[in-house]
Amino acid sequence: MTKTKVAVLISGAGTNMAALLYAAKLPDCPYKIVLVASNNPEAEGLNIAAAEGVPTYGKSHVGLNRVDHDLIIHDQITQAGATYVALAGYMRILSRDFVEKWDGRMLNIHPSLLPKYKGLNTHQSAINAKECVAGCSVHLVTAELDDGPVLGQIEVTVLPGDTAESLAARVKMAEHQLYPKILAEYVVRETNPEYLILQVRKLALAQPEAHEVLSHGMPCFGIIGGKKFAYVSVDHHGDGKTALLVKISGAEEQGMLIDSDGERYYRPAYFGDGWVGIRLDLGDTDWNHVGDWIAKSWRAVAPKKLAKLMDVAADF
Ligand code: GRF
Repeated sequence: MTKTKVAVLISGAGTNMAALLYAAKLPDCPYKIVLVASNNPEAEGLNIAAAEGVPTYGKSHVGLNRVDHDLIIHDQITQAGATYVALAGYMRILSRDFVEKWDGRMLNIHPSLLPKYKGLNTHQSAINAKECVAGCSVHLVTAELDDGPVLGQIEVTVLPGDTAESLAARVKMAEHQLYPKILAEYVVRETNPEYLILQVRKLALAQPEAHEVLSHGMPCFGIIGGKKFAYVSVDHHGDGKTALLVKISGAEEQGMLIDSDGERYYRPAYFGDGWVGIRLDLGDTDWNHVGDWIAKSWRAVAPKKLAKLMDVAADF
């Protein structure tokens, strides 16, 4: 199984990072931790990660502006090959640039049942509000603090006499259960054929006069009454791949693509030289790029009249 590479950012104890890291040691865990980085070089969690042989990086933000510090951390994450970021008690507000770069690929854990009690002092706030139930949430990170779509939550009962500390301790136990599970589910989504077909479908049906049919069991997209411009190949003849097949100019382009990235591009069986297979199940699919491929493929088969009409519309 190819494991998705995840970088974890921490500022302190790193118990959530440890939960992610130890869960990653289970054989069927779909992700692995390739870097633990911190804005606090003294963060206790860095020692836990180092002891487990996970590369660590500590760089204080003191004296650096937010954007520059974020850039340094971003470089470390990309150099480590991570395609996802898990924030686990990272006590820094992130620059808009950084958040945009990791859009849809950065998760955070927060000790409340979001949308309730964003920010700090969540446990005391829940107790003050006489809540019977508190808890924790894992959510996607967006530019607003603790505001992105919630991916999962665990409720924790508030006991009579609970203090912020006693409640926090139980919520932490719940956090350690929640984060590994949700992260695993989230990264797997990107290799799940159903999810991948859905993404291609959205892009393909956005092309003018596009429609979907089933061809030899494959979801296939064509121009109504015309030619096909995209197929989704799922485990075709047991090849174990989920891929998009699009039109190309011929053997030369096919060879060039395969030479440039032999893991991603391949010659699809039974399709000849006029098509190329693009793997969608490698966990790092750039959907803008896939959209460009689909548009290019549509154009390659579109009747001249229709393509011209589109040009006129685009110029307008
Ligand atoms: C956790 O409570 C988490 O929800 C919050 O920061 C705390 C980090 O704790 N975002 P730890 O460093 O993982 O122990």
